[in-house]
Amino acid sequence: LRSIKTGDDDFGLMAYDPAFTNTASCRSAITYIDGDAGILRYRGYPIQELAEKSSFLEVAYLLLAGELPSTDELSTWEDEITHHTLVHESIKKFIDGFHHDAHPMGMLVSTVGALSTFYPDAKTIDDPGLRRLQIVRLIAKITTLAAYSYRHSVGFPYVYPDNDLSYAGNFLNMMWKATELKYEPDPNLEHALDVLFILHADHEQNCSANAMRAVGSSQADPFSAAAAAIAALYGPLHGGANEQVLRMLAEIGSVENIPSFIAQVKDGKKKLMGFGHRVYKNYDPRARVIRQVADEVFKVTGTNPLLDLAMELERIALEDEYFIARKLYPNVDFYTGIIYQAMGFPVEMFPVLFAIGRMPGWLAQWEEGLLDPEQKIARPRQLYVGYDQRPYVPMDDRG
Ligand code: ACO
Repeated sequence: LRSIKTGDDDFGLMAYDPAFTNTASCRSAITYIDGDAGILRYRGYPIQELAEKSSFLEVAYLLLAGELPSTDELSTWEDEITHHTLVHESIKKFIDGFHHDAHPMGMLVSTVGALSTFYPDAKTIDDPGLRRLQIVRLIAKITTLAAYSYRHSVGFPYVYPDNDLSYAGNFLNMMWKATELKYEPDPNLEHALDVLFILHADHEQNCSANAMRAVGSSQADPFSAAAAAIAALYGPLHGGANEQVLRMLAEIGSVENIPSFIAQVKDGKKKLMGFGHRVYKNYDPRARVIRQVADEVFKVTGTNPLLDLAMELERIALEDEYFIARKLYPNVDFYTGIIYQAMGFPVEMFPVLFAIGRMPGWLAQWEEGLLDPEQKIARPRQLYVGYDQRPYVPMDDRG
């Protein structure tokens, strides 16, 4: 704490809390996490139960509306999302403009941000009906933008959304449908992807939700705020971690090399990607559900050899003093990459899949922040550690 009293009505103390590890930046009724006990609940419902009994769109409704939908409410909600999946034709031209090897996450940041220019009504953030419309648009269109980004990177023609398919099924169809062949999404993979989206749907004040709230607090439109959230998710320490897990497993190569890799981690030369979490100091409850999803997927795709390597790596790490002392457990990303790879997704698409799942959570956080009368524009303080005032040095005297 440091005294910064600037006037009579100034409380006069400032907390220095780098990265806000110990500061609540908002109030929230959306997601509850007990990191020590390994508990995660959306609006009071345990994640395990939602993953088992609800669909992703049902969970999205829950996060946004605060309650599980009735049959009618769910059906209206699904209809609304389904009928907003198309994107403006000009967005396709926009994607065409990217270099062929552009990262799909970079394309997603740009195209989601660009949507604000197509929907100027998004600026009217104090109208509940218009807010709902932008929410529906973002949840609906992100799958289309994600699939288009992938198809651009492999040079395939874009596939239009199919309104007869489920949310996950439509996304799989837009990803994989060949030009002439009829592609039918496998129901088991469709279900597995839906569950993975549920597991990623919200996680309270993580880096990307914080970005969404911070940009939203300036009353920017939700497309711009969501683009900032996706940009935050792009980083390897956040949504990029599942991509890094696969690269790490490929680098380790085989079970015999695990001890030498662990030794490098303990020497501080490497990080065990997919391990550790700012909040969970116990097994991430999502990682447990993901182990079951993996079984469901591998029944269809055949096993991924990296799974054995990952399981052995987890076993060795969980018995190692270094990881025990620091309470480092597998997080949600440790197994998702292996599953996505078995489903045929290239590593660059992993954070994109995370972004699709997280969109309802970002939007719920954005709207909650806007409606909270105590919420102000995000504007943290700083500890200035630079020079005091000093004389200006003319160019000729600078040496
Ligand atoms: N491998 C090796 N050591 C680790 C790891 C890891 N993955 N994570 C933390 N540690 C060590 C740190 O070096 C530190 O050790 P020290 O006390 O000897 O200095 C100690 O554990 C505490 O780590 P912090 O960095 O203080 O933990 P923090 O809460 O700041 O970081 C984070 C959390 C960023 C997730 C970190 O654990 C990490 O980088 N993990 C790997 C990346 C990853 O999997 N990210 C995904 C997170 S989940 C998500 O975003 C969905």
